[in-house]
Order: sequence, then structure tokens, then C-alpha cells
Amino acid sequence: MKPRIKQHSLAVAAMLAILAAGTGVFVYSGLYDIGADDHHTRPVFDLLQTLRERSIHRRAEDIKVPDLNDPQLILKGAGQYAAMCTGCHLAPGMDDSELRVGMYPQPPDLAKVRVDPKVAFWVIKHGIKMSAMPAWGMAGHDDPTIWSMVAFLEKLPGMTPAEYKAIVAKAPPDEDMDMGHDHADAGHSGMDGTTESPPAR
Ligand code: HEC
Repeated sequence: MKPRIKQHSLAVAAMLAILAAGTGVFVYSGLYDIGADDHHTRPVFDLLQTLRERSIHRRAEDIKVPDLNDPQLILKGAGQYAAMCTGCHLAPGMDDSELRVGMYPQPPDLAKVRVDPKVAFWVIKHGIKMSAMPAWGMAGHDDPTIWSMVAFLEKLPGMTPAEYKAIVAKAPPDEDMDMGHDHADAGHSGMDGTTESPPAR
């Protein structure tokens, strides 16, 4: 290595060491306000946002999305959503909840914002660190149940309060649903031979 380059790398290494030490002192000093009522400074926000987005993107990009248009799946998701999510993510016709106002990061209003299905599935299953978003997969919700929530979220933005109320009222309760054998068998053709013997007089 030429002496000039060697000197240069030494200077860079020294600067990095000073920066690392400075960061350590700052973190340990307790100067940064971690309170949710004081928002992140711009550089910290940008750093966390990029970290969050890259992390989710990397883990979600290969997820295979099933058919999300199945009405039974959407209906099941409506029940799940109404039971577990509205306190933080609201619903059509619902004003801000007491829980949500004080939260930082603030949960998106999922009645207004559409989320990519792969991202939604990953976030619902695994949650997000240092935010209040729980990992619902840890609470015993299997993948099909989580997909039902994603299917419902696809339909939620733009739903009127009346439509929302109606679908939640029809939804199965928040527990494992039997995917219904309750539909009447519509296959009877009436060819049961009764017309062949005229009624006796
Ligand atoms: C206790 C509050 C809380 C509850 C309950 C909650 N969430 Fe969240 N959720 C959050 C927060 C906070 C975020 C945002 C985290 C962030 O931005 O880092 C979030 C993020 C999300 C996102 C990602 C949005 C995006 O734009 O990337 C989805 C999807 C989501 N939640 C779905 C749900 C569903 C479905 C439920 C119910 C099963 C639920 N959440 C229950 C707090 C909550």
C-alpha cells in the first residue's frame, strides 16, 4: 500500500471510531426522548422507515397470494377484523379511538388505506417491533385465518358504514369456522318416479 493511501485509511478508521463512540455516548446519555408524544427527528424517522420497509419487502416478496375473492374468506375476515383490529385501525364510520390517538407510530386507518396483500399478510402474521402491531401468528391464528383478514382488507377501503355493518353482522364469530355444509343441496332433479303410478281412486 502506498503511504498516502495508508494514511488516508487510518484517518477514515479513526473518524469511524469517533463516530461510533459518539453514538454510544449519545444513546447511553438518555438524551433522546423515547416518549410517544414526542415524534422522531427527521433523520431517525427516515432511518427507521427505511429499515422497516426493506425488512418487510425482503421477507414478503416471495409470499404466494391465494385467491382473495372467495366470499366465504372475505366474510370470515370481516369477523376477525371487527373483533381484533378496529381499536387501532378503525372502521368505516368510526372516529379516532382513544387507543389510536396516543400511538406512535400511529396505526394506519385501514378503512381508508389499501395495503399490498403480501405486505399485509407478513405484517399481520409477524407484527412490527417497537410499534404496537402484534404478531397475530403467535396468538394462534393460522395462515388461512390470516389470509381471510387480508382478503377482507382488500375490500375495506371505500366500504360505507352501512356495508361494513352488514358484512360484520353476517360474519361467523371470531373462532375457527366450519366452512359451511349448511347450503341446501340444490341438486334434486325431481326424477324420483312418483309420476308413473297414477293416484288410486
Ligand atoms: C394495539 C394496536 C394494534 C392492533 C390491535 C392491530 N394493529 Fe395493525 N398496526 C398497528 C400499528 C401501530 C401499525 C403500524 C406499525 C408501523 O408503521 O411501523 C400497524 C400496522 C398494520 C399493517 C401494515 C400497514 C402498512 O401500511 O404497512 C396491517 C396490514 C395491519 N396492521 C393489520 C392489522 C390487523 C388485520 C389487525 C387485527 C387482526 C391489527 N392490525 C391489529 C397497531 C395495531
